[in-house]
Amino acid sequence: MMDWTDRRCRAFHRILTRRARLYTEMVTADAVVFGPRERLIGFDAREHPVALQLGGAEPGRLAQAARIGAEFGYDEINLNCGCPSDRVQSGRFGACLMREPGLVAECVAAMVVAADVPVTVKCRIGVDEQDPRASLFAFADAVKAAGAAALIVHARKAWLKGLSPKDNRSIPPLDYELVHELKRAHPGWPIVLNGGLADLEAARAHLQDLDGVMLARAAYQNPELLLGVDPAFFGERAPVVECFEAIEAFMPTIARGLKRGERLHDYTRHLHGLFAGRPGARAFRRVLASEAIRPGAGLNVLREAVGLVERRAELAAAE
Ligand SMILES: Cc1cc2nc3c(=O)[nH]c(=O)nc-3n(C[C@H](O)[C@H](O)[C@H](O)COP(=O)(O)O)c2cc1C
Repeated sequence: MMDWTDRRCRAFHRILTRRARLYTEMVTADAVVFGPRERLIGFDAREHPVALQLGGAEPGRLAQAARIGAEFGYDEINLNCGCPSDRVQSGRFGACLMREPGLVAECVAAMVVAADVPVTVKCRIGVDEQDPRASLFAFADAVKAAGAAALIVHARKAWLKGLSPKDNRSIPPLDYELVHELKRAHPGWPIVLNGGLADLEAARAHLQDLDGVMLARAAYQNPELLLGVDPAFFGERAPVVECFEAIEAFMPTIARGLKRGERLHDYTRHLHGLFAGRPGARAFRRVLASEAIRPGAGLNVLREAVGLVERRAELAAAE
């Protein structure tokens, strides 16, 4: 997610789950090819499994970017065909590619040849006046034939005119059944559902038939839910027992960043969703919001903020 799942966020999420696949923010193929690569797509080996999401609509350029991403060590290269922002539309990529399955197929085919890791696509069920069934099914046929290893479907349309990107994540209605129908038409091809899944229980309901689920806002806004992923879906213990331990485990990564001149807030902004509903959570967020942004703020600020949250043992003793 743009501005959210940067490498610092991903480093934290990886402390909460070993197994969930993490995705980068969308990076345009041009930026990967011509931009400051290490800054844009550099990542830590501990983030694996991690996918690089690309934006673009030009097969040659996407192929170059996919090759670079694979050489960087990404486990998957994903093509964004779901973003409705104006900037993306003016570049004729993102969700407006739902209208051009032939071009997307060319892009995917070029990326598959260029990168020696799986190439996947993330899409909507259609845009604007398109009939969702016709558009999604034709789109899926095209990218599958081009070699896409999986399709991630954000199960709502994007309305390209008149809705902000934010509204386009909530106003067009969700149609999960259509994604299940698509899966029945492609039993051997991995299909992943995204959109509106608020927690792991909601996600589990789809895994009977589908190959995966993608949680976006819920995972970012309530990272604690990631603690349940390994036990619930992979039969493994979570890497840490609870969020206090996760923050402790994150500290060395933050310390290294501070040494490089990064700000505490660059890291702690991804922690604001922790401890939701617990006594002290609001004070935790307040200290982070007001103190972690100060130049020179150090780990002591994070420790102070964490110290304001009641621990389970204290909660239990008080009951
Ligand atoms: C701040 C923000 C940034 C996003 N950026 C991207 C992006 O770069 N690429 C992408 O495929 N989807 C992006 N999305 C959309 C999400 O990946 C997801 O498809 C959408 O939020 C619906 O899933 P959810 O209900 O689980 O959040 C973004 C969403 C948010 C809230």
